[in-house]
Amino acid sequence: MRIAILAAGVLAASLAGTAPAPAAEEHLEKMDWSFNGPFGTFDRASAQRGFLVYQQVCSNCHSIKEGYYRDLRGIGLDEKQVAAIAGAVNVATLSEDGQPAERPALPSDKFRSPHPNDRAARAANNGALPPDFSVIVKAREGGADYIHALLNGYAEPPAGVKVGDGLYYNAVYPGHQIAMPAPLTDDRVTYTDGTKPTVEQMSRDVTTFLTYMASPEMESRKRMGVKIVLFLVVMTGLTYAVKRKVWADMPH
Ligand code: HEC
Repeated sequence: MRIAILAAGVLAASLAGTAPAPAAEEHLEKMDWSFNGPFGTFDRASAQRGFLVYQQVCSNCHSIKEGYYRDLRGIGLDEKQVAAIAGAVNVATLSEDGQPAERPALPSDKFRSPHPNDRAARAANNGALPPDFSVIVKAREGGADYIHALLNGYAEPPAGVKVGDGLYYNAVYPGHQIAMPAPLTDDRVTYTDGTKPTVEQMSRDVTTFLTYMASPEMESRKRMGVKIVLFLVVMTGLTYAVKRKVWADMPH
């Protein structure tokens, strides 16, 4: 069955000629994420680089309304670093006499959104709404693999494909025409740890960060799962031993 699908894919690809990855939508590349599997954890360094990408690029358009600055502790930043990141951002408050004012954000504040509301966000983006990132990784079929592929999916439209006004060709986006201009180009951000900021690397890092933001509790949840399975294994052994002991003298 699998071979048949593969063969059909190869045939389709060869028939499609030079079209850039037309089948990408159905066949997302399965990435080897550090957070995959029952023992998965977040690659802290990658998530920190990913935060930088979010902060410097994506946060101009995309909010993370359910995220708090203190959540950054979970990707390995210490208290001082988090306080500094929050403190560099101004959030709305009220002055002594009740007038609207601004103050530096605290770790206990939610991430500041780029736009005051959805209408303003659309107005700034040709009518398209950049979706909130709080749970974007969970909200898209394919999850992290999809987000990563989408960011790498920009290409010249294949011959004969007309791309609408204010839209961009993306081989991975459903329908292939997306209102988001390619957000990443090589060296778009400067990494301080020597990692080369290629589009592929930045996509990987920002996807790791967004996966963390969508499920910051993942590591403790998986640890608990492993403990429970271990407990059940031990319990099964004990129960069996007790059963043998209790029934040992029973003729059968
Ligand atoms: C200039 C504004 C802008 C920037 C910067 C930007 N985006 Fe977007 N993004 C958009 C808009 C607008 C949409 C909605 C596209 C549509 O509806 O066609 C979008 C949609 C998306 C989607 C949803 C796609 C889907 O399947 O619905 C993802 C994921 C995404 N962006 C990721 C990112 C990431 C990651 C970054 C940073 C590396 C980023 N964006 C930077 C404007 C932006």
